[in-house]
Formats: sequence, structure tokens, C-alpha cells
Amino acid sequence: MTDATTSNPGRVDTSPLPALYPELAGRTVVVTGAGRGMGALFVEELARQGVNAVGGDLDGDAMAAVAEQITARLADVEGAGRVIGVGADVTDPAAHDALAATALEAFGRLDMWVNNAGVFPQADFTDISPQQLATTYSVNVNGVVYGGQTAARHFRTVGGGVIVNMASVAAVRARVTRAAYNSSKAAVKHLTTCMAVELGPDDIRVNSIAPGFIDTEMTRWVQEDAAALDRALSTVPLRRLGAPVEVFGALAFLLSDSARYVTGASIPVDGGSQHV
Ligand SMILES: NC(=O)c1ccc[n+]([C@@H]2O[C@H](COP(=O)([O-])OP(=O)(O)OC[C@H]3O[C@@H](n4cnc5c(N)ncnc54)[C@H](O)[C@@H]3O)[C@@H](O)[C@H]2O)c1
Repeated sequence: MTDATTSNPGRVDTSPLPALYPELAGRTVVVTGAGRGMGALFVEELARQGVNAVGGDLDGDAMAAVAEQITARLADVEGAGRVIGVGADVTDPAAHDALAATALEAFGRLDMWVNNAGVFPQADFTDISPQQLATTYSVNVNGVVYGGQTAARHFRTVGGGVIVNMASVAAVRARVTRAAYNSSKAAVKHLTTCMAVELGPDDIRVNSIAPGFIDTEMTRWVQEDAAALDRALSTVPLRRLGAPVEVFGALAFLLSDSARYVTGASIPVDGGSQHV
């Protein structure tokens, strides 16, 4: 435990995780929704381990800027991978094909795919609008299907690959005012199992990660509202928010050869909140 856990209201521990997977160096990953939050951190930490990365985000300007910042921060890291950031709307199947094409053109190979983009709408159940429902499912569910399809089609041509989908503790816990989000993440969890079963014979592994409250823009409102933070932490046995780097620990494992016999799994990174 570091000072970081006591110097901020959510007691977020952002200290680096020691897990290293040298076999990942030289491989290529696509990460969607990487213009900020966990996706941006995933790209940076994978590049730090020598992975070449293509990040795609609805906000293409933010994505390009993040790629530039990561490249600058890793300039002195020996063996760091290269990072490319482009605009990509995950609700458009063609955008996924373009991400794959960018990776293949720039790096000559594509080994790993992270369906990370997501939206987190809030509304009382009776107030969920058709538009809100459509957007939520379109990004959180359809985006995972389309990304998985593009990745799987390519992985089939090269003898295998790895897909990781971002689900949520919300897939198994019914948090109020989040019915659209909760149900979309339940779909991601089950989709992951379906994809793993169907793609396994092609040596394509598919797993999901189920984060709890992680300190990103998506959960900034929790940090900014003391009562909301108290309520949130009361559902977390470890009594603190998670850091994106702690989710990266699970992601790196799932992408690595250490997980070569792991498929169809959902790894919670939630401080135990799935049980409360
Ligand atoms: N933060 C948490 O506590 C938490 C908990 C559980 C699960 N998750 C999931 O983890 C993933 C990342 O979350 P985060 O906290 O980093 O979120 P975030 O809101 O900080 O970042 C999400 C990114 O996705 C992008 N995005 C949104 N719609 C898109 C689209 N149509 N196409 C491409 N990109 C799009 C956004 O522009 C943004 O850059 C999401 O799937 C989220 O649901 C987050």
C-alpha cells in the first residue's frame, strides 16, 4: 500500500503493478475507446511492455493527442512499442475493419483486440428513452460484436489470437438508475462466453474483465460527491476505488501466454463488490 491510498478521497492506489509479460513485446493490439480512461492507460502500459498499439476512439482528436502524449512519455523507454491513435466509432462495423487495416499496415501483424469503449448512462427505469437505450446497446453491445467479428476474421487467417471485452460488475449486480448499462454489460459477459465457445476451435481466446468502481472520468461524479463516495465504498469490501492500472493487471494476464488455457472467463477487478 502506498501514500496514494490515503491522500485522495477514493483512496486510489495508482502505484505500478510489477507483472511483466515479456512475450508480448513485438505483438500488436487494437484497443477501442482509448482516447481517455482505462483504454488510454491500457495502450500506454502495453506499449511500455513493447507492444505496438492502435487506439481508436469516437473522439479522434483526443485519441490522436493521447497517442502523441504516450509516445513522448515512452521516448526513453527501451524497447517500447509504437502507438497510433485514430478516430473510430465502434457502432460502425467498417470502423473496426479500418482499425485492423491500420494495425496491419503499420505493424504487419495483429495479435490482440480489446473491446473497451463504453458509455454509462443514468436514468430511472421508467425514464430511459429509446435513444438512450439504442445508444447504450449500440456502443456497449453491438460494438463488442463488431470488434469481435473483425478480430476473429483476422485471427482465423493467422492461426489464433486473443480478445478481451470490458464487462462490469454491473453485469451481475443491479445498481439502481443503471438498468440500460447493467443489462448491456450482462450481454457483454454472456457474449464473451458465446464467442469463446464458438471461436475456441480456431485457437481464439475470448475473456472479459468485470471492473467495479474504477477512478476514471466515467466515475468522476463519485469522487466529487462525498455522500455518493460513501455509498459507493460501502459496497466495496476493500473500501477504496480501483485504479486503471489495477485493471491493467488483469488485462495483461489475459493477453499473455500465462493465460493460454483461459477462455470464456470473466475476471472481476472490483475490490470484492460483486459480493455485496
Ligand atoms: N470506470 C469504471 O468504474 C468502470 C467500471 C466497470 C466497467 N467499466 C467499463 O470499462 C470501459 C472503459 O471505461 P472508462 O472508465 O475508461 O470510460 P471513459 O468514459 O473514461 O472512456 C470511455 C471511452 O470510450 C469512448 N467511446 C464512447 N463511445 C464510443 C464509440 N461509439 N466509439 C468509440 N469510442 C467510444 C469515449 O470517447 C471515451 O474515450 C467501458 O466499457 C466501461 O463501461 C468502467
